[in-house]
Amino acid sequence: MTDIGVEKLTAFQGNDLQELCEATEEAIRDGSGFGWLTPPPREVLEAHWSGVLLVPQRHLFIARLEGTVAGSVQLVTPPANNEAGAHKARLETFFIAPWARGHGLARALLARVEDHARKMGFMSLDLDVRATQKDAIRLYERSGYTRWGIRPDYALVGGELIEGYFYSKKLREKQA
Ligand SMILES: CC(C)(COP(=O)(O)OP(=O)(O)OC[C@H]1O[C@@H](n2cnc3c(N)ncnc32)[C@H](O)[C@@H]1OP(=O)(O)O)[C@@H](O)C(=O)NCCC(=O)NCCS
Repeated sequence: MTDIGVEKLTAFQGNDLQELCEATEEAIRDGSGFGWLTPPPREVLEAHWSGVLLVPQRHLFIARLEGTVAGSVQLVTPPANNEAGAHKARLETFFIAPWARGHGLARALLARVEDHARKMGFMSLDLDVRATQKDAIRLYERSGYTRWGIRPDYALVGGELIEGYFYSKKLREKQA
């Protein structure tokens, strides 16, 4: 049976950082769209992911296939000054590397990060996605996310504007 796992990372150990960088590069080359259009130099990616672990509002979750890091998602919680927005958090940089897709990693990662957000007391989760990311959109809609907005100029790729969709999912009725 295929060994899949999801976990919250607080420190990179062993080959974790290199594997996460490789998975990121492969996802970017595949056009997976979380900002980068071409892979940046490896040291920039390493600094990026190391920086994520240092930011208190960012919680990094990774997926592993047969022990190798294959994807990630970040739970981004509101800053202390945003008292009015303290009930909702957002998801960013959700991707699974092309070689690891179709094994249920994305579904497991989404369930894990939602569970964490619920336990932290958040009432809802927000995310946004390019309209061209059909697999992700299908996954979000099947997982209970509701589309509440469309932005025509969401991304500019190769000189062309691409639409983006904005989604939310209710996690609990009251803030804990
Ligand atoms: C969207 C994405 C995360 C899915 O990753 P994955 O690990 O292959 O997904 P899973 O194996 O967990 O499958 C999740 C669901 O999508 C379905 N699915 C996944 N890939 C599919 C495909 N190519 N065609 C049809 N269905 C697909 C699965 O059948 C499953 O549905 P089910 O749970 O109802 O059976 C991955 O394709 C990806 O990283 N895409 C590019 C990045 C991206 O779009 N990120 C979102 C930015 S916000």
